[in-house]
Amino acid sequence: MTERRLLLVNGPNLNLLGTRQPEVYGSTTLAQIEARVAELAAASGLDIRAVQSNHEGVLIDAIHDARTDCAGIVINPAAYSHTSVAIADALRSVELPVAEVHLSNIHAREEFRHHSYVSAVADMVVAGAGPLGYEMAVQYLAGRLSQ
Ligand code: DQA
Repeated sequence: MTERRLLLVNGPNLNLLGTRQPEVYGSTTLAQIEARVAELAAASGLDIRAVQSNHEGVLIDAIHDARTDCAGIVINPAAYSHTSVAIADALRSVELPVAEVHLSNIHAREEFRHHSYVSAVADMVVAGAGPLGYEMAVQYLAGRLSQ
């Protein structure tokens, strides 16, 4: 694998991190998460393309684009985790390693959050670690890509 880039995908409502239900999602903003991910990736010689959208098709297009110039995908599909066969299929189609992140522990929340379509495609899943989950995802992918 010659590509040294990770795609970081954040789904709907995550643009509001920092002010959105801080009791559930904490006070770290998306900009802070993206900066930390970029910093950590750089330490492994990887750069980051960060995409956040509230629109399913935009997320799917970004996943498709990764096929040509990315080596792995870190994704928090947010509510689309629980609804989107299309995002799961897009991830399946690009055949890149996938790390799925949830800030909250979706398994300890409402029943409808317990199932993620993306988890069936993901190589690793982290839930409930807050922003640290994104760091774990980058470490995981960096480790895989160095093998
Ligand atoms: C989330 C969990 C989802 O259930 C929710 O819809 C989100 C964020 C998380 O990061 O904990 O928007 O993916």
